[in-house]
Amino acid sequence: MLTYTYYGHACFLLDDGASKILCDPFLTGNPLAAINERDVQADYILVTHAHGDHIGDAPNIAVRTDATVVGIPEIMDFGGQRVKTIGMNLGGTVKTEFGFIRMVPALHSAGIPGGVACGYVIGVGGKVVYFAGDTSLFGDMKLIGARDKIDYAILPIGGHYTMDPVDAAKAVELLGAANAIPVHYNTWDIIKQDPQNFVKLVTGATVHIVKPGQSIELA
Ligand code: NI
Ligand code: MN
Repeated sequence: MLTYTYYGHACFLLDDGASKILCDPFLTGNPLAAINERDVQADYILVTHAHGDHIGDAPNIAVRTDATVVGIPEIMDFGGQRVKTIGMNLGGTVKTEFGFIRMVPALHSAGIPGGVACGYVIGVGGKVVYFAGDTSLFGDMKLIGARDKIDYAILPIGGHYTMDPVDAAKAVELLGAANAIPVHYNTWDIIKQDPQNFVKLVTGATVHIVKPGQSIELA
């Protein structure tokens, strides 16, 4: 059984009952945050890029929980704090006790000089979950879906900084994903969206709208 818990913005937790994989833990300063950074649990923390609304509380949570932070090497500077890290890069796969983590491209700025933004394909709990991070629509999403049958695609729909519902619906189609979960919307007015518009635009996949603080089973 694999549980998805949404903490608001682009932050969520995947839990297969043995491993907790926390993604883009922006909680402090997040108007939608459903948990305090002091209370969240993690074994792995996946960071897509160094913008504050993604790397967020990763260093503090990693120090407190002893979780391993995963990201490109360039963002792994935590000012001398003792943090376990896995530095990897686009196209790379790391095998873990729960399955695997594959780093895939995203079309977005990195939040640091000289870096890149990324997404992740995560094999966990017998499912394949794709987290796009912040990205525009790009055609190579088709290749991500060609390598792994995507059970759940977690996609930004807020627009302005990322895909909007129209492009995110096209992303679902390119990926061939069976299910989609929208994130990265309604945190602020600038990324205000009605997720029902995304539901209406997606064909051939089931959309799950998860509210901050809510958990669903990824069946
Ligand atoms: Ni960003
Ligand atoms: Mn963002």
